Amino acid sequence: MSTKGRTTQRLDKVLSNLGFGSRAELKKMAKQGSIVVNGTMMKDPGKHVDPYTDIIEFEGETIQYREYVYIMLHKPPGVVSATEDLRDRTVLDLLDKDYLVFEPFPVGRLDKDTEGLLLLTNDGKLAHELLSPRKHIPKTYEAIVEGRVGEEDARLFAAGVTLDDGYATMPAELVIHSHEERDDGVILSRISLTIHEGKFHQVKRMFEAVGKKVVYLKRVSMGELRLDKSLKIGTYRELTEEELALIGRTASL
Ligand code: URA
Repeated sequence: MSTKGRTTQRLDKVLSNLGFGSRAELKKMAKQGSIVVNGTMMKDPGKHVDPYTDIIEFEGETIQYREYVYIMLHKPPGVVSATEDLRDRTVLDLLDKDYLVFEPFPVGRLDKDTEGLLLLTNDGKLAHELLSPRKHIPKTYEAIVEGRVGEEDARLFAAGVTLDDGYATMPAELVIHSHEERDDGVILSRISLTIHEGKFHQVKRMFEAVGKKVVYLKRVSMGELRLDKSLKIGTYRELTEEELALIGRTASL
């Protein structure tokens, strides 16, 4: 993050935000000599530090401070894009607890049965930038659709189609990759579709509007960010510096 506007913070707040313990626990640990700042043992964890420039050691390990996390998840089907759910597993259940202390949330939603690129962050401003309906951030999906998707569908999507609730979609770009026949004789079409808005079930409903059914859906990009092809389904990693730059962020110090 930019160094502008940085202020010092209480040492115990910095450490508890990173998941090293509650304030009460940290007080005890400081007394036992577990916390060292710039080479000096800190018995009082209420002292202020600059977490970006001071060297803070906890039980002999130097900590890496940052305020935000940016995680690329290859979402598998069967988990919901929410932070909590009474019935289903959520995308947060896939993360290591070291990340949960940052309180990340998914940027937008993919349906439970949709796979692919999902960004998880605690940077609310970024989420707003990527999801703002005024920004028209493009999102590209790969899909398998029952029925022969053809050039006429591409023309209809380019003009905008009317969804079941009367909403007229913005122009979207359809690319038809291939057709194959399923064992039961149904033609399946492999396509990519880029949309510039994010209505509920939008891709599925756009195909319903042209009389076809999406049977598999995967998001492969959002804005400039592309799903890493080497990221196995159900796994995640932090964004690289290059990817952070693509979404207008810089890596923390
Ligand atoms: N469109 C859909 O229909 N489902 C998704 O999960 C995303 C886009």
